[in-house]
Amino acid sequence: MPDFLPGIDAATSETLQRAAGEAAEHAYAPYSHFRVGAALLFGDGFIATGCNVENMSYGLTMCAERSALFRAVSQRGAGHKIVAIAVTNLNNAPSPPCGACRQVLSEFVAPDAVVFFPGDGGLETRLFREIFPFTFHLDPH
Ligand code: THU
Repeated sequence: MPDFLPGIDAATSETLQRAAGEAAEHAYAPYSHFRVGAALLFGDGFIATGCNVENMSYGLTMCAERSALFRAVSQRGAGHKIVAIAVTNLNNAPSPPCGACRQVLSEFVAPDAVVFFPGDGGLETRLFREIFPFTFHLDPH
């Protein structure tokens, strides 16, 4: 466990990864058979989970990370920031968040948010801003 993780201890990271794994069990992935789960930890301790939901019109598929985010916003509104994200899959494969999910999540992450995901050599722990620099930005008005 790197020591740069602001406020995220080992137990919290394990809880989040377990929640992501449980969500992956619900994945609807009859086309790719790649089952993904995501868990988002918000600053107030709330955890939202999601899984990928595929569609036979392939491009309509929704990733686990965005499912989790849309679920969280639907439940509680958009006024909460994500402090940690866990992504996992049931295929024993690397699965960092895809580019579309990084863009969507970027609007809701706290500045020091961390991301846990299976990488090429096992669990990767990164700052969100490290995996998604140069964020596209518009000032809301
Ligand atoms: N998938 C996710 O759920 N998250 C990602 O970040 C990348 C890909 C899903 C979409 C699709 O159902 C399956 O993984 C294979 O691409």
